[in-house]
Amino acid sequence: MPTIAIVSQKGGSGKTTLALHLATCAAYEGKSSCVIDTDPQATAAAWGDWRGEFLPEVVTCPPVRLSSTIDRARRAGTQMVVIDTPPHGDTAAREAVRAADLVLIPTRARAFDLHALEATAGLMAYASKPAFVVFNAVPARASKMLESASASARELGLDVCPIHFGERAAFYRSSASGEVAVELEPEGKAAGEVSALWQWVGERLGPLA
Ligand SMILES: Nc1ncnc2c1ncn2[C@@H]1O[C@H](COP(=O)(O)OP(=O)(O)O)[C@@H](O)[C@H]1O
Ligand SMILES: [Mg+2]
Repeated sequence: MPTIAIVSQKGGSGKTTLALHLATCAAYEGKSSCVIDTDPQATAAAWGDWRGEFLPEVVTCPPVRLSSTIDRARRAGTQMVVIDTPPHGDTAAREAVRAADLVLIPTRARAFDLHALEATAGLMAYASKPAFVVFNAVPARASKMLESASASARELGLDVCPIHFGERAAFYRSSASGEVAVELEPEGKAAGEVSALWQWVGERLGPLA
């Protein structure tokens, strides 16, 4: 059962947005996917409540219950798990990374966010798990900013995902409505970025997926 952890020590970097969109992509492919929300703020779970009966399922659990929650999901036939984590949650992030086949680290490309990336890089240093920074909410015409942010991430020893998300109203609206970008704007750029990321993730997970 492929398991993706979304971690970043900074709030507002896009962890929940990424988690919900990836799990929904799996659901659209007919896979039973589950988001495990380990953030005490339970933002992903609130999104799941608004969404109602539509997949993916979102469950909450404290970090100490993560591995048993994953086992339960596996026994229930879940085919993909995405773990959402809180900011500043060392234990939560560590447990999520331990359980994951692939770790994604969303971050904005601004200086303060890149500074916070250091803590996440420290966490990943001994984890020996495939991990990639995913730049999120990148402003339009910011290719220089993206280039220098990518260089900073690499200096910290982190790989950079070739797909990034732009700053898009569809992402912003999705979090407030229990929907995902493709449901709000099927032909929009946000939907295209999600689909490109999903394809890339599938290639990384390979036979697991
Ligand atoms: N690419 C994006 N474009 C526009 N708004 C975004 C984007 N990614 C996230 N947001 C918005 O930023 C806020 C924080 O995102 P969220 O995914 O909750 O971050 P985190 O889980 O890391 O705290 C939310 O209101 C979300 O809708
Ligand atoms: Mg969140």
